[in-house]
Amino acid sequence: MSAPGSVTPEVDAQALTTSTPLVADAVSMWEIAAASRVLDVKPRYAYALMCRDFSATSIVARLGDRVVGYVTGYLRPDAPDTLFVWQVAVHADARGRRAAATMLDELVSRVRATFLETTITADNDASIALFSGLAQRRGAGMERTELFDGAVLGADHDPEFLYRIGPMTHASDDARTR
Ligand SMILES: CC(C)(COP(=O)(O)OP(=O)(O)OC[C@H]1O[C@@H](n2cnc3c(N)ncnc32)[C@H](O)[C@@H]1OP(=O)(O)O)[C@@H](O)C(=O)NCCC(=O)NCCS
Repeated sequence: MSAPGSVTPEVDAQALTTSTPLVADAVSMWEIAAASRVLDVKPRYAYALMCRDFSATSIVARLGDRVVGYVTGYLRPDAPDTLFVWQVAVHADARGRRAAATMLDELVSRVRATFLETTITADNDASIALFSGLAQRRGAGMERTELFDGAVLGADHDPEFLYRIGPMTHASDDARTR
């Protein structure tokens, strides 16, 4: 048995692929969220809705047939140039092989939003590193402000800080598709 968080040889040999989520992926996404022990786990219904109605602004990663990660997001109705990333998760079996970074890069290239927002709790170093890396690769700034505190989320929930990345340009995406 492999150590928690490690990549087994079988998993390591498989190529990572990404695609827009299907409704059939919702259960896997819910299982990955629950296994993370970090994320707020929503009802399966919420993941199914994300897959049905927000697949254009979401992405899943697979190793073989198995869903090992996802990013869910939406364009903010009041600011349609802004992609709000709701959750990012990669199963422990597949971490550390740039699955999350690849999903974010591909999603940003596909959606072509000018700004990206997400919220992160102060103790989530992995998530802060993930989004800092995205801002660097896009040559974009990143601002942090407090969005939801305990008065909104409940005293037992850490404050969620809003990270706003942008403006992002898509010149390198254009060059790649030309
Ligand atoms: C955060 C998470 C999605 C990262 O997934 P991953 O596929 O292992 O990340 P990647 O391999 O793509 O690494 C992306 C960057 O994050 C950094 N990183 C990843 N895990 C890290 C950790 N535990 N501590 C510090 N940095 C970390 C990598 O070094 C890399 O940085 P770089 O771009 O500067 O080289 C994964 O750890 C996870 O699912 N965590 C639980 C859920 C969660 O916290 N989600 C985010 C909040 S919504």
